Amino acid sequence: MKAVVVTAPGGPDVLRVQEVEDPEIKDDEVLIKVEATALNRADTFQRKGVYPPLPGSSQYLGLECSGTIEAVGKHVSRWKVGDQVCALLGGGGYAEKVAVPAGQVLPVPPGISLKDAASFPEVACTVWSTVFMMSRLSSGETLLIHGGSSGIGTFAIQIAKYQGARVLITAGSEEKEETGGKGVDVILDSVGQAYFRQNLDSLGIDGRLFVLGTLSGSVTEIDLRVVHSKRLTIQAAGLRSRSPENKAVIVREVEDNVWPAIVAGKVKAVVYKHFPLSEAAEAHQLMESSQHIGKILLFP
Ligand SMILES: NC(=O)c1ccc[n+]([C@@H]2O[C@H](COP(=O)([O-])OP(=O)(O)OC[C@H]3O[C@@H](n4cnc5c(N)ncnc54)[C@H](OP(=O)(O)O)[C@@H]3O)[C@@H](O)[C@H]2O)c1
Repeated sequence: MKAVVVTAPGGPDVLRVQEVEDPEIKDDEVLIKVEATALNRADTFQRKGVYPPLPGSSQYLGLECSGTIEAVGKHVSRWKVGDQVCALLGGGGYAEKVAVPAGQVLPVPPGISLKDAASFPEVACTVWSTVFMMSRLSSGETLLIHGGSSGIGTFAIQIAKYQGARVLITAGSEEKEETGGKGVDVILDSVGQAYFRQNLDSLGIDGRLFVLGTLSGSVTEIDLRVVHSKRLTIQAAGLRSRSPENKAVIVREVEDNVWPAIVAGKVKAVVYKHFPLSEAAEAHQLMESSQHIGKILLFP
């Protein structure tokens, strides 16, 4: 099959389409013929060599895909050959075929094209597992999202509104005025160091900060009295390093809680641009320029 290979750690031009071995499935996996894959910021870090693939995962880039099931392992009962699906991957989406544990596979939501379905698994699983499963954002609460134009941000805005939350997408400290001095309940932040102090100041009593990434740096100082006096919770987590069993739990929660919102038209695919697999380098350049709003797709 054809796959995008990181020929050496470096800039986007190290990405080349090459002929590689087809993946082999284990008994609890399915083989997907990829219709589309989507970029994630983590792919650019993996390309640079600072975020290596986990042992046992595909060495190729790509944390999500959509496509058609081509083979099923002998312990797989839910899926059959020919099913149109999308999936959360540990890697390997930038290819014509990918093997994935059956528990990480989702049906294509009715009303969504097979290609656009590739835009959902990573953002839906990330946002649901953090904002809702860990930070317990509830109806009537206020969520502040930094980087509202990102793939993560454009999805988080929609699902949080669907769940009845008030959503703010400002940076800095103005959000405090926006809440009449009460502060926000949950913050979803990928910026890290540069926003950390303002984040703590912007949270209200019992506020929760979720750190998804550290785009501006990762080292900071913290005045524990602020955490103490407002009973704050600071959490951080990565999706890619979770076990297949853990990912399967998240994927089923996403199917139960997010898929109905997509089917109802309340959460839409936000696709900025698509490229053929052979132009993966151009797609990475676009992501690193931060000009995009939403997701960037690749079509094998
Ligand atoms: N923990 C997890 O499991 C997990 C899962 C998925 C994603 N993430 C993280 O979530 C973030 C968004 O991912 P994505 O795939 O949605 O990427 P994306 O679409 O490329 O979005 C990145 C966003 O970060 C902003 N940005 C970039 N550098 C920045 C900096 N130095 N300071 C402030 N803002 C900066 C960009 O907007 P501007 O142009 O406005 O700066 C853009 O909105 C990334 O940090 C990613 O690593 C974490």
